Amino acid sequence: MCGIVGYIGSGDPKKVILEGLKTLEYRGYDSAGVAILDGNKFKRIRAEGKLSILKEKLESEIFSGHIGIGHTRWATHGKPSERNAHPHSVKGVSIVHNGIIENYADLKESLKDLGTEFLSDTDSELVAHLISAEIDSGKDLFTSVLAILPRLSGAFSILAVSTDQPDEMVAFKNGPPLILGPAKDEIIVASDVQAIIKYTKDVIYLDDFEIAHIVGSKYKIFDKEGKIIAKKIVHIDWSPEQVEKQGYRHFMLKEIFEQPRAVAAAIAPHVDLNHHTVQLSRLGLGGTGVEDLESLNLIKDYQNTVEKLKNVNRIFIVACGTSYYAAMVGKYVIERMAGVPVEVDIASEFRYRNVVIPKDSLFVTISQSGETADTLAALRLVKEMGVPCLSICNVKRSTIDREAHGHLYMNAGAEIGVASTKAFVCTLSLLNILALNIGKIKETISSSEEQKWVREMLSVPSQMEIVLAFDKFFAEASHTLKKFRGFLYMGRGVNYPIALEGALKLKELAYMHAEGYASGEMKHGPLALIDESMCIVMLAPSDELYEKTVSNLEEAKARGGEIISIGTGENTKLRQISEHYLPLPSAAWFVNPILEVIPLQLLAYHMADALGHDVDQPRNLAKSVTVE
Ligand code: F6R
Repeated sequence: MCGIVGYIGSGDPKKVILEGLKTLEYRGYDSAGVAILDGNKFKRIRAEGKLSILKEKLESEIFSGHIGIGHTRWATHGKPSERNAHPHSVKGVSIVHNGIIENYADLKESLKDLGTEFLSDTDSELVAHLISAEIDSGKDLFTSVLAILPRLSGAFSILAVSTDQPDEMVAFKNGPPLILGPAKDEIIVASDVQAIIKYTKDVIYLDDFEIAHIVGSKYKIFDKEGKIIAKKIVHIDWSPEQVEKQGYRHFMLKEIFEQPRAVAAAIAPHVDLNHHTVQLSRLGLGGTGVEDLESLNLIKDYQNTVEKLKNVNRIFIVACGTSYYAAMVGKYVIERMAGVPVEVDIASEFRYRNVVIPKDSLFVTISQSGETADTLAALRLVKEMGVPCLSICNVKRSTIDREAHGHLYMNAGAEIGVASTKAFVCTLSLLNILALNIGKIKETISSSEEQKWVREMLSVPSQMEIVLAFDKFFAEASHTLKKFRGFLYMGRGVNYPIALEGALKLKELAYMHAEGYASGEMKHGPLALIDESMCIVMLAPSDELYEKTVSNLEEAKARGGEIISIGTGENTKLRQISEHYLPLPSAAWFVNPILEVIPLQLLAYHMADALGHDVDQPRNLAKSVTVE
């Protein structure tokens, strides 16, 4: 949940670290700090609040050294404050840490019994004390880190420096990501490639229990026993410009507007543009995991994948938050197109219940970041059972992507806004493609249906462009809509999860009470909520449930609620019942969710902006949830 950057080289560590932390601010933004060599000491400067406050504090600071570490925090142990901000320093040792040290309380108590004084409430400070004690006993930095690791449990990554070896850094990963970017005459270590790509696109992903020992511009990677290991250099295929706002006021707005292009990129690898057929490409389900990705024999893989999918009798999809709502949409689509029963689960529930996974099941995880702790734990659990695991990820080579057998990529490009937008619509598109492909393999859809539906998918990006025009409407309407006490989002069938997603977006961005409901459930409780202070957002596209949805809308209207309805094309009935009617282009039932979610994203975005909230970094949240 936190962001780590380390720098060693001939350049200016302050500049590289601050720029790197800026790109990682999505991972945490309640406090930040750096420790940079100055003379023969690491000078530590920390600040509570956003990175901009640290930046101001560092404005006039000059450091003579060329090595340093930095951190942007998302509080787990100890409230956001300067004393709890990283780096934590003990004598000459400074560390930054991401993740949780589960046995920290016992270790802390035993150190306190020996007279150690703690200056913060974090689990992280402990690491600096432990390393420092090892150094006091005569070890160097690297052997000290190696010595303390067996004493720590949990999922965490650490980067450490010491005044005793002022040209060395030691990085350790077990859980949260840590990546090395060996550029010319310098090395950058970071939690995400975004902090590195400006300097090099050739990076090394540390795997769990690996330690990088960096001396000057040279590095070696070791396993936990201290044996040197050879690592592959991975080339990143996106550019630094992708992590800039490019004229938009917020990353979220830029990402909402990028959605048509993102969807096109998500589906392109899997459709034949000439014949309008679908074929899951580079899925990898026939292989054993990430190492196959480079050398994947596509024809063999496709045959194996087809074989596996043909025999699949049940699908489990597991995810968190917005990705979970995408999974819910996937259930409707796969069951209807391919006739395979689908179970969807919230990862934090799935991993702790006694799951029963029948033979011939396929397990699918959805994760934009590919690092979400609960989703990863669910994947590992199911992989142990010998079930084929398919990941739908945005971040290539993230932990979930690497550990799954098969891979579908969202291809959304970097998503920086904490609230997920373009990754969501790309996932919905991929689930449509997956459903179509399984339906084709299992012969539940005909080839003319396949061609028709592929054509529908190919026209989605241009339909999305039309829907983006609602931006103007919400920019104005948000100023009056913000007076409502609460928002009730409703939909039926495949539109129901979109109601849940719309409510989540409003909660996380505008900090307003919002609920998502299946319209048919309204009479079973939520109707009592409706009066003039409640705004109802109804998803009412022209599908087979439309008439029922309109009846629900009438009931809400009769109780005095303000109605925003979203339907298909010109619709006098909806216009008449609603205070605001937003017409969508006519589309297939499985395309409607992709179009409907856009006005809901714009509503949440403009409400948050009108209320003066930080849209890209909503309070208490972080983009990548690498802790439970
Ligand atoms: C909400 C949001 C979160 C994430 C969730 C899972 O806008 O972004 O609910 O969807 O934390 O994250 P990933 O998809 O990275 O596993």
